[in-house]
Amino acid sequence: MKAAIIGAGFMGTIHAENLSHSDIPLNWVMDKDKERGEKLAQKYNATWTPDITKITGDPKTEIVIHALPTPYRLEFLKQYMAAGKHILCEKPIARTMEEARKILEAFRGYKKVFMAGHVLRFFWEYAFAREMLHAGEIGEPGIVRISRCSGLPASYDRQENWYLDAKKSGGVLLDLSIHDLDWLLWTFGAVKRGFAQTLATRGDATDYALAILKFKNGVLAHVEGSWTEAPGSFWTAFEISGKDGIIEFDMRDASTLTFSVKKEIQGKKAGTISPESPSLESPYLVEQRHFIDCINSGKKPMTDVNEAFESARLAIGLIESARTNKPFEF
Ligand SMILES: NC(=O)c1ccc[n+]([C@@H]2O[C@H](COP(=O)([O-])OP(=O)(O)OC[C@H]3O[C@@H](n4cnc5c(N)ncnc54)[C@H](O)[C@@H]3O)[C@@H](O)[C@H]2O)c1
Repeated sequence: MKAAIIGAGFMGTIHAENLSHSDIPLNWVMDKDKERGEKLAQKYNATWTPDITKITGDPKTEIVIHALPTPYRLEFLKQYMAAGKHILCEKPIARTMEEARKILEAFRGYKKVFMAGHVLRFFWEYAFAREMLHAGEIGEPGIVRISRCSGLPASYDRQENWYLDAKKSGGVLLDLSIHDLDWLLWTFGAVKRGFAQTLATRGDATDYALAILKFKNGVLAHVEGSWTEAPGSFWTAFEISGKDGIIEFDMRDASTLTFSVKKEIQGKKAGTISPESPSLESPYLVEQRHFIDCINSGKKPMTDVNEAFESARLAIGLIESARTNKPFEF
């Protein structure tokens, strides 16, 4: 098998590097930007193309890792599907419910692997907390507080920072908080009702959000997402209270050394920020390994199209709640 990376920006660069730790060669890099695409392709002995049909038409390239900005999903996914590729698609699965429904429908019964990049499930602290909860270590859970806060993200495309246009990125709820929303759904099951309030402190960015979720199992969760922190900073935290105990995590306390820096591209610092630790294996690498394992073993991916749909449905429902100032029934 060989692989193609679609989008040579922040996430495409991470996926390409992780792929180099597997036995799957990178064959193609697709990006509309020649300089960026070629630079990434050359680093891994691959070929750059701005033309997606070169990749869909190449039978040797069985794997496609899709890391284009959120507005570009359905049109590309349909082409990969028609060509029978295994697909790892970055989160969120879609910008709108209409598109998410079309994607869900299109992938019904798809025989190859489709996995969404809900990477938080591969962060060991989050996976371990869920395991402890499900093992009954803190008894019946009642209240959850969960936060994910960073500086304003920047696109590698310096002409147009699509993150700051809520119509494209969905703002902080769909782009950032979706990580926590996905983890909450995975951990506590379906949501009954949600209410959100958002702020747009800088133009149209929708850079701060608070949401309250009532789960069908009775759990109440308070979700905070922010792009209003100082430039370059990134932290996450959670507190889960149960009848018999509490599980707490705050990234700022837990690591003795973390890097939360923008990567350099075309001689400038750019991209979104993702925390890295020199002592732990990257959760993005673990995520990619799970994807490859699913291809080889026929296992169902942990974050399949249904799960990705539900996470997007929750995030988009909360955006709707913030817009209408009304609770959202799921
Ligand atoms: N899983 C995570 O933790 C995580 C983190 C950051 C971003 N993301 C997601 O990854 C996706 C990509 O984000 P990013 O930060 O890498 O974006 P980015 O802006 O850094 O990079 C996007 C790349 O796509 C290219 N591009 C844009 N439109 C194109 C088109 N129509 N055809 C060809 N190339 C095109 C740009 O030239 C750029 O190189 C987004 O959906 C984002 O939500 C996920």
